[in-house]
Amino acid sequence: MTTTDLIIIGAGPGGYKAAAHAAKHGLKVAIIEEGHVGGTCLNVGCIPTKTYVHSDTFEDARERMTTVVPQLRQGVEGILSHPNITLVRGKASFVDAQSVCVGDEQYTAQNIIIATGSDSKLIPVSGIDSPEVVDSTGLLNLDKLPQRLCIIGAGVIGMEFASVFNRFGSEVTVIEFLKECLPALDSDIAKRLRKQMEKEGITFNMQCGVKSLSPIPSPVGEGNFSGEGCLVQFENKKGQTESIEADVVLVATGRKPRTEGLNLEAAGITLAPNGTIPVDSDFQIVNCKSSNCKCFAIGDVNGKQMLAHAAEMQGIHVVNRILGIEDNIRFDVMPAAIFTSPEAACVGPSEDQLKEAGTAFECHKAFYRANGKALAMGETEGMVKLCTEPGEGRILSAHIFGAHAADLVQEVTAYMNLGATLQQLRDTVHIHPTLSEVLIEVN
Ligand code: NAI
Repeated sequence: MTTTDLIIIGAGPGGYKAAAHAAKHGLKVAIIEEGHVGGTCLNVGCIPTKTYVHSDTFEDARERMTTVVPQLRQGVEGILSHPNITLVRGKASFVDAQSVCVGDEQYTAQNIIIATGSDSKLIPVSGIDSPEVVDSTGLLNLDKLPQRLCIIGAGVIGMEFASVFNRFGSEVTVIEFLKECLPALDSDIAKRLRKQMEKEGITFNMQCGVKSLSPIPSPVGEGNFSGEGCLVQFENKKGQTESIEADVVLVATGRKPRTEGLNLEAAGITLAPNGTIPVDSDFQIVNCKSSNCKCFAIGDVNGKQMLAHAAEMQGIHVVNRILGIEDNIRFDVMPAAIFTSPEAACVGPSEDQLKEAGTAFECHKAFYRANGKALAMGETEGMVKLCTEPGEGRILSAHIFGAHAADLVQEVTAYMNLGATLQQLRDTVHIHPTLSEVLIEVN
């Protein structure tokens, strides 16, 4: 049996950042990982998809992915080689609220952090297990560009892949349940982004529900996959059945927390009905039946904010709490970006959410087409929307669509983190000519 100060299950962005932070402050850490270090983000998520976004062809993207991912993985292994950290390879399973086993070895600690991430959530339709139907990991593993790609779900994953595969030359069709794409985004921005992507050749079928997926029968007889594609049947908004053919179908209908095999019952931990591990505002597990439970859940597995950077900051906050260090991390100011072409990004509540909550606010807008740098770059398609308290008061949120939207939102995030007003943003000197001048040009 090994006794340590902190056990972390999962070496994704949440887990490995927490381990590094704890080790730096003198805690002895055992971090347990059954797959590659770096988690979904580094191996099959944010990083590989960014190699796709920044490559001209599918072949270049695949090649860059195979060099960038191992390089970053090595970097994480380097971080985890800290003398205070033991990287344990294998699957962790709880023994009680303070112990886990990995194979025959048992590890015990006062504090345990669960950072196991999430898996793709598949939809219950017939044919979902056909070989032509893949999740985002399967799509990244394709060695040939599909001529016709059908994407189910116009959320973050669906929209990012629609954008890159369209640019590579695939014929992309998206099928989405809701009226608008990207349900978490300001609807004004989401609509503009969808319209722009439509102009670039992507077909969107909104308010449509997929009914079945079936391999196109080969001429040699039923039940033999021809490798010729998949027939996607869906019901359109008028209730009529339509169908399209695709070589590959990407299912991007959300992700679910990964808790299988953790034996959470042994620690007295009960899942919420939606499968997440419920936590308090400091990410300590709330419905643990064990009296000596000092267990925390960070990242996708707690379902709060399914973003790599949210997981990282949650992990740092938990370690600070264990060490008794005060921090001022504002989890209510959580920026997010969608790396489509053009990008979209946001921080804070959407205009619709502010209206629903009955918050007094005003809306300020500016357009890229009036910005010198955007014109010079040939990136005139874009808009900034800032929601503030009345009278150009405190900035409540930012919603941006256009080139480098993520960087612009990051600037606004800094202001919001410090509780700054629009007037304070306007009073800050901005370099000319830059895209960030759009922020101070809002009316
Ligand atoms: P999502 O929750 O963003 O979107 C899923 C979409 O699928 C929704 O629009 C939903 O209405 C639709 N849908 C669900 N069932 C459907 C059905 N049967 N037929 C048609 N449409 C259906 O989930 P997504 O895109 O899979 O992403 C998962 C998580 O990963 C999200 O929390 C996302 O924030 C995160 N992520 C973040 C990235 C980023 O920050 N850039 C990149 C990739 C993922």
